[in-house]
Amino acid sequence: MKEEYLKIKDAALTALAEVTDAEALEAVRVKYLGRKGIFTSLMRNLGRASKEERPALGKMANEIKAELDAVYEAGKLRIGGAGNGGAGKGAAQFDLTLPGRAIPPGHQHPVTRVMTEVCSIFERLGFTVAEGPDIESDFYNFEGLNIPKHHPARDMHDTFYVSDNVLLRTHTSPMQVRTMEKQSPPLRMIAPGKVYRCDSDITHTPMFHQVEGFLVDRQVSFADLKGILSIFITKIFSKDTAIRFRPSYFPFTEPSAEVDISCVICKGRGCRVCKQTGWLEILGAGLIDPEVFKKVGYDPDEYSGFAFGIGIERIAMLKYGITDIRLFYENDLRFLKQF
Ligand code: PHE
Repeated sequence: MKEEYLKIKDAALTALAEVTDAEALEAVRVKYLGRKGIFTSLMRNLGRASKEERPALGKMANEIKAELDAVYEAGKLRIGGAGNGGAGKGAAQFDLTLPGRAIPPGHQHPVTRVMTEVCSIFERLGFTVAEGPDIESDFYNFEGLNIPKHHPARDMHDTFYVSDNVLLRTHTSPMQVRTMEKQSPPLRMIAPGKVYRCDSDITHTPMFHQVEGFLVDRQVSFADLKGILSIFITKIFSKDTAIRFRPSYFPFTEPSAEVDISCVICKGRGCRVCKQTGWLEILGAGLIDPEVFKKVGYDPDEYSGFAFGIGIERIAMLKYGITDIRLFYENDLRFLKQF
Protein backbone atom coordinates (compact mmCIF):
# COMPACT_ATOMS: atom_id res chain seq x y z
CA MET A 1 0.00 0.00 0.00
CA LYS A 2 2.91 2.29 0.74
CA GLU A 3 4.07 2.32 -2.86
CA GLU A 4 0.58 3.05 -4.00
CA TYR A 5 0.46 6.09 -1.68
CA LEU A 6 3.75 7.40 -2.97
CA LYS A 7 2.74 6.95 -6.58
CA ILE A 8 -0.44 8.92 -6.05
CA LYS A 9 1.47 11.59 -4.21
CA ASP A 10 3.92 12.01 -7.09
CA ALA A 11 1.16 12.14 -9.64
CA ALA A 12 -0.74 14.74 -7.62
CA LEU A 13 2.35 16.90 -7.13
CA THR A 14 3.19 16.79 -10.83
CA ALA A 15 -0.38 17.71 -11.71
CA LEU A 16 -0.37 20.59 -9.24
CA ALA A 17 2.93 21.86 -10.57
CA GLU A 18 1.66 21.86 -14.13
CA VAL A 19 -1.59 23.75 -13.71
CA THR A 20 -1.63 27.30 -15.01
CA ASP A 21 -5.16 28.44 -14.39
CA ALA A 22 -7.74 28.26 -11.68
CA GLU A 23 -9.95 25.82 -13.50
CA ALA A 24 -7.21 23.26 -13.98
CA LEU A 25 -6.16 23.68 -10.36
CA GLU A 26 -9.69 23.05 -9.18
CA ALA A 27 -9.86 19.95 -11.36
CA VAL A 28 -6.70 18.58 -9.78
CA ARG A 29 -8.07 19.31 -6.33
CA VAL A 30 -11.30 17.47 -7.06
CA LYS A 31 -9.45 14.54 -8.61
CA TYR A 32 -7.06 13.97 -5.71
CA LEU A 33 -8.27 15.80 -2.64
CA GLY A 34 -12.01 16.12 -3.13
CA ARG A 35 -14.53 14.13 -1.15
CA LYS A 36 -14.64 11.47 -3.85
CA GLY A 37 -11.02 11.98 -4.84
CA ILE A 38 -8.36 9.32 -5.20
CA PHE A 39 -6.55 10.19 -2.06
CA THR A 40 -9.66 10.37 0.04
CA SER A 41 -10.81 6.93 -0.98
CA LEU A 42 -7.36 5.55 -0.30
CA MET A 43 -7.55 6.88 3.23
CA ARG A 44 -10.93 5.30 3.60
CA ASN A 45 -9.44 1.99 2.63
CA LEU A 46 -6.91 2.17 5.46
CA GLY A 47 -9.19 -0.19 7.37
CA ARG A 48 -8.18 -2.98 5.07
CA ALA A 49 -4.52 -2.82 6.02
CA SER A 50 -3.23 -5.21 8.66
CA LYS A 51 -3.32 -4.13 12.28
CA GLU A 52 0.49 -3.82 12.42
CA GLU A 53 0.75 -1.77 9.26
CA ARG A 54 -2.13 0.59 10.00
CA PRO A 55 -0.52 3.17 12.35
CA ALA A 56 2.47 3.80 10.08
CA LEU A 57 0.26 3.97 7.00
CA GLY A 58 -2.12 6.36 8.70
CA LYS A 59 0.73 8.64 9.65
CA MET A 60 2.10 8.59 6.14
CA ALA A 61 -1.30 9.32 4.66
CA ASN A 62 -1.74 12.33 6.90
CA GLU A 63 1.66 13.67 5.97
CA ILE A 64 1.01 13.32 2.30
CA LYS A 65 -2.37 14.97 2.70
CA ALA A 66 -0.79 17.92 4.53
CA GLU A 67 1.85 18.30 1.82
CA LEU A 68 -0.69 18.20 -1.00
CA ASP A 69 -2.89 20.72 0.81
CA ALA A 70 0.05 23.06 1.16
CA VAL A 71 1.05 22.72 -2.48
CA TYR A 72 -2.55 23.28 -3.47
CA GLU A 73 -2.74 26.48 -1.35
CA ALA A 74 0.53 27.68 -2.86
CA GLY A 75 -0.88 26.99 -6.31
CA LYS A 76 -3.92 29.11 -5.45
CA LEU A 77 -1.66 32.01 -4.49
CA ARG A 78 0.48 31.58 -7.59
CA ILE A 79 -2.47 31.63 -9.94
CA GLY A 80 -4.41 34.29 -8.05
CA GLY A 81 -1.39 36.61 -7.90
CA ALA A 82 -0.46 36.18 -11.53
CA GLY A 83 -2.56 39.14 -12.49
CA ASN A 84 -5.83 37.52 -13.50
CA GLY A 85 -7.41 39.16 -10.42
CA GLY A 86 -10.91 37.93 -11.13
CA ALA A 87 -9.76 34.32 -11.52
CA GLY A 88 -12.53 31.81 -11.28
CA LYS A 89 -13.81 29.54 -8.61
CA GLY A 90 -11.24 28.40 -6.04
CA ALA A 91 -8.55 30.91 -6.95
CA ALA A 92 -7.26 33.33 -4.32
CA GLN A 93 -8.34 36.84 -5.17
CA PHE A 94 -5.64 39.03 -3.74
CA ASP A 95 -2.84 41.00 -5.24
CA LEU A 96 0.53 40.12 -3.74
CA THR A 97 2.05 43.26 -5.20
CA LEU A 98 -0.08 45.59 -3.05
CA PRO A 99 1.90 47.33 -0.28
CA GLY A 100 1.03 46.22 3.28
CA ARG A 101 -1.33 48.20 5.47
CA ALA A 102 0.66 50.28 7.97
CA ILE A 103 -0.25 49.90 11.64
CA PRO A 104 -0.62 53.44 13.00
CA PRO A 105 1.97 54.05 15.73
CA GLY A 106 0.63 54.81 19.21
CA HIS A 107 1.88 57.70 21.30
CA GLN A 108 2.04 58.91 24.86
CA HIS A 109 -1.01 60.06 26.80
CA PRO A 110 -0.96 63.85 27.32
CA VAL A 111 -0.70 63.37 31.09
CA THR A 112 2.32 61.08 30.65
CA ARG A 113 3.90 63.62 28.33
CA VAL A 114 3.54 66.51 30.75
CA MET A 115 4.64 64.31 33.66
CA THR A 116 7.81 63.35 31.79
CA GLU A 117 8.49 66.94 30.85
CA VAL A 118 8.03 68.21 34.42
CA CYS A 119 10.32 65.50 35.80
CA SER A 120 13.01 66.10 33.23
CA ILE A 121 13.15 69.82 34.03
CA PHE A 122 13.83 69.02 37.68
CA GLU A 123 16.23 66.21 36.85
CA ARG A 124 18.30 68.69 34.88
CA LEU A 125 18.35 70.85 38.03
CA GLY A 126 19.88 67.97 39.98
CA PHE A 127 16.75 66.51 41.61
CA THR A 128 16.54 62.73 41.89
CA VAL A 129 13.29 60.83 41.34
CA ALA A 130 11.65 58.64 43.99
CA GLU A 131 8.31 56.87 43.94
CA GLY A 132 6.13 55.78 46.84
CA PRO A 133 3.01 53.70 47.42
CA ASP A 134 -0.50 54.83 46.40
CA ILE A 135 -1.93 53.03 49.41
CA GLU A 136 -0.56 54.95 52.34
CA SER A 137 -0.79 55.01 56.10
CA ASP A 138 -2.43 57.79 58.06
CA PHE A 139 0.98 58.56 59.50
CA TYR A 140 2.73 59.40 56.22
CA ASN A 141 -0.24 61.08 54.60
CA PHE A 142 -1.22 63.22 57.61
CA GLU A 143 0.39 62.76 61.02
CA GLY A 144 4.02 62.99 59.85
CA LEU A 145 3.09 66.12 57.88
CA ASN A 146 1.89 67.89 60.99
CA ILE A 147 -1.78 67.16 60.29
CA PRO A 148 -2.99 65.43 63.49
CA LYS A 149 -6.38 63.70 63.78
CA HIS A 150 -9.23 66.23 63.87
CA HIS A 151 -7.06 68.90 62.27
CA PRO A 152 -9.36 71.01 60.07
CA ALA A 153 -6.90 70.68 57.16
CA ARG A 154 -8.02 67.04 56.83
CA ASP A 155 -11.34 68.28 55.52
CA MET A 156 -9.68 69.69 52.41
CA HIS A 157 -8.46 66.28 51.42
CA ASP A 158 -11.67 64.28 50.71
CA THR A 159 -9.88 61.12 51.69
CA PHE A 160 -10.71 57.61 50.44
CA TYR A 161 -10.15 55.41 53.50
CA VAL A 162 -9.26 51.73 53.23
CA SER A 163 -9.49 51.30 56.99
CA ASP A 164 -9.03 53.58 60.00
CA ASN A 165 -5.30 53.94 59.45
CA VAL A 166 -4.92 53.06 55.78
CA LEU A 167 -5.96 55.31 52.91
CA LEU A 168 -5.33 56.23 49.29
CA ARG A 169 -2.79 59.02 49.45
CA THR A 170 -4.41 62.41 48.91
CA HIS A 171 -1.15 64.05 47.83
CA THR A 172 2.49 63.15 47.10
CA SER A 173 3.72 64.94 50.24
CA PRO A 174 4.00 61.63 52.20
CA MET A 175 7.15 61.10 50.12
CA GLN A 176 8.76 64.00 51.99
CA VAL A 177 8.41 62.09 55.25
CA ARG A 178 9.34 58.70 53.76
CA THR A 179 12.50 60.10 52.18
CA MET A 180 13.66 62.21 55.13
CA GLU A 181 13.11 59.28 57.47
CA LYS A 182 15.59 57.18 55.48
CA GLN A 183 18.16 59.71 54.27
CA SER A 184 20.00 62.62 55.78
CA PRO A 185 20.47 66.06 54.22
CA PRO A 186 21.39 67.41 51.78
CA LEU A 187 18.39 66.18 49.80
CA ARG A 188 17.07 67.20 46.42
CA MET A 189 14.15 65.01 45.35
CA ILE A 190 11.06 64.86 43.23
CA ALA A 191 8.28 62.31 43.73
CA PRO A 192 5.83 61.91 40.85
CA GLY A 193 2.69 59.79 41.13
CA LYS A 194 -1.03 59.25 41.37
CA VAL A 195 -3.11 60.77 44.16
CA TYR A 196 -6.76 60.26 45.07
CA ARG A 197 -9.56 62.44 46.35
CA CYS A 198 -13.27 61.81 46.56
CA ASP A 199 -14.20 64.60 44.18
CA SER A 200 -15.47 64.79 40.60
CA ASP A 201 -16.43 67.71 38.34
CA ILE A 202 -14.96 69.54 35.34
CA THR A 203 -11.79 70.43 37.25
CA HIS A 204 -11.55 67.39 39.54
CA THR A 205 -11.20 63.63 38.99
CA PRO A 206 -11.04 61.06 41.82
CA MET A 207 -7.52 60.16 40.66
CA PHE A 208 -5.02 62.68 39.38
CA HIS A 209 -1.26 63.20 39.28
CA GLN A 210 1.14 65.32 41.28
CA VAL A 211 4.85 65.88 41.35
CA GLU A 212 6.22 66.62 44.79
CA GLY A 213 9.53 68.39 45.05
CA PHE A 214 11.66 69.17 48.08
CA LEU A 215 15.13 70.29 48.95
CA VAL A 216 16.77 70.20 52.37
CA ASP A 217 20.18 71.62 53.26
CA ARG A 218 21.77 74.23 55.49
CA GLN A 219 20.52 77.81 54.98
CA VAL A 220 17.87 77.08 52.36
CA SER A 221 15.67 80.14 51.97
CA PHE A 222 12.46 81.23 50.33
CA ALA A 223 14.61 82.87 47.64
CA ASP A 224 15.91 79.41 46.65
CA LEU A 225 12.33 78.17 46.31
CA LYS A 226 11.45 81.18 44.16
CA GLY A 227 14.48 80.65 41.99
CA ILE A 228 13.80 76.98 41.31
CA LEU A 229 10.09 77.51 40.66
CA SER A 230 10.75 80.45 38.33
CA ILE A 231 13.06 78.31 36.24
CA PHE A 232 10.49 75.52 36.19
CA ILE A 233 7.60 77.77 35.16
CA THR A 234 9.44 79.54 32.37
CA LYS A 235 10.62 76.17 31.03
CA ILE A 236 7.23 74.42 31.13
CA PHE A 237 5.27 77.42 29.81
CA SER A 238 7.24 80.27 28.24
CA LYS A 239 9.83 82.87 29.09
CA ASP A 240 7.30 85.71 29.30
CA THR A 241 5.07 83.97 31.88
CA ALA A 242 4.62 86.19 34.95
CA ILE A 243 4.78 84.52 38.38
CA ARG A 244 3.08 85.55 41.62
CA PHE A 245 3.45 84.06 45.12
CA ARG A 246 0.34 84.40 47.27
CA PRO A 247 0.40 83.75 51.05
CA SER A 248 -1.41 80.53 51.88
CA TYR A 249 -1.53 77.82 54.48
CA PHE A 250 -0.36 74.20 54.62
CA PRO A 251 0.28 72.50 57.97
CA PHE A 252 3.60 71.11 56.73
CA THR A 253 5.10 74.34 55.38
CA GLU A 254 5.74 77.71 57.05
CA PRO A 255 5.53 80.16 55.45
CA SER A 256 3.29 78.72 52.75
CA ALA A 257 2.40 80.07 49.35
CA GLU A 258 0.25 79.34 46.38
CA VAL A 259 1.91 80.14 43.10
CA ASP A 260 0.02 81.80 40.26
CA ILE A 261 1.09 82.40 36.69
CA SER A 262 -0.25 85.01 34.30
CA CYS A 263 -3.15 83.45 32.40
CA VAL A 264 -1.80 81.47 29.44
CA ILE A 265 -5.06 81.97 27.54
CA CYS A 266 -5.55 85.77 27.76
CA LYS A 267 -1.97 86.70 28.77
CA GLY A 268 -3.27 88.41 31.91
CA ARG A 269 -6.00 90.57 30.38
CA GLY A 270 -8.81 88.58 31.99
CA CYS A 271 -10.93 85.76 30.50
CA ARG A 272 -13.25 82.93 31.50
CA VAL A 273 -10.47 80.47 32.28
CA CYS A 274 -8.82 82.81 34.81
CA LYS A 275 -12.22 84.10 35.99
CA GLN A 276 -11.26 87.62 34.84
CA THR A 277 -8.36 87.80 37.32
CA GLY A 278 -5.56 87.40 34.79
CA TRP A 279 -3.94 84.78 37.07
CA LEU A 280 -4.03 80.99 37.32
CA GLU A 281 -3.06 79.00 40.38
CA ILE A 282 -0.71 76.15 39.50
CA LEU A 283 0.99 74.87 42.64
CA GLY A 284 1.37 74.96 46.41
CA ALA A 285 4.70 75.46 48.12
CA GLY A 286 6.55 76.71 51.19
CA LEU A 287 9.45 76.22 53.55
CA ILE A 288 9.27 72.87 55.31
CA ASP A 289 7.76 73.32 58.77
CA PRO A 290 10.18 72.66 61.69
CA GLU A 291 7.53 70.31 63.12
CA VAL A 292 7.99 68.01 60.12
CA PHE A 293 11.76 68.01 60.63
CA LYS A 294 11.26 67.03 64.27
CA LYS A 295 9.08 64.05 63.25
CA VAL A 296 11.84 62.63 61.05
CA GLY A 297 14.65 63.44 63.47
CA TYR A 298 16.23 66.39 61.63
CA ASP A 299 17.46 69.32 63.72
CA PRO A 300 15.41 72.36 62.59
CA ASP A 301 18.12 74.68 63.90
CA GLU A 302 20.64 73.12 61.59
CA TYR A 303 18.59 72.43 58.48
CA SER A 304 15.96 74.19 56.43
CA GLY A 305 14.25 73.28 53.21
CA PHE A 306 11.47 73.98 50.78
CA ALA A 307 8.74 71.82 49.26
CA PHE A 308 6.22 72.19 46.48
CA GLY A 309 3.42 70.14 44.96
CA ILE A 310 2.46 70.45 41.30
CA GLY A 311 -0.83 69.25 39.82
CA ILE A 312 0.00 67.61 36.49
CA GLU A 313 -3.47 67.60 34.92
CA ARG A 314 -3.77 71.28 35.76
CA ILE A 315 -0.54 72.04 33.86
CA ALA A 316 -1.64 69.83 30.95
CA MET A 317 -5.01 71.59 30.75
CA LEU A 318 -3.34 75.00 30.61
CA LYS A 319 -0.66 73.92 28.14
CA TYR A 320 -3.16 72.38 25.72
CA GLY A 321 -6.21 74.57 26.41
CA ILE A 322 -8.37 71.72 27.75
CA THR A 323 -11.38 72.91 29.75
CA ASP A 324 -12.69 69.61 31.15
CA ILE A 325 -10.26 67.44 33.14
CA ARG A 326 -12.44 64.34 32.67
CA LEU A 327 -11.46 64.18 28.99
CA PHE A 328 -8.09 62.78 30.07
CA TYR A 329 -9.73 59.65 31.44
CA GLU A 330 -12.50 58.89 28.95
CA ASN A 331 -10.08 57.30 26.47
CA ASP A 332 -11.88 58.81 23.51
CA LEU A 333 -9.47 58.36 20.60
CA ARG A 334 -10.75 61.52 18.91
CA PHE A 335 -9.44 63.43 21.95
CA LEU A 336 -6.23 61.44 22.51
CA LYS A 337 -5.16 61.54 18.86
CA GLN A 338 -4.70 65.29 19.00
CA PHE A 339 -1.54 65.16 21.10
N1 PHE B 1 0.43 68.65 49.20
C1 PHE B 1 -0.17 69.91 48.88
C2 PHE B 1 -1.51 69.63 48.15
O1 PHE B 1 -1.70 68.59 47.64
C3 PHE B 1 0.70 70.73 47.99
C4 PHE B 1 1.98 71.15 48.67
C5 PHE B 1 3.12 70.37 48.56
C6 PHE B 1 2.02 72.33 49.40
C7 PHE B 1 4.29 70.77 49.19
C8 PHE B 1 3.20 72.72 50.00
C9 PHE B 1 4.32 71.95 49.89
O2 PHE B 1 -2.38 70.48 48.12
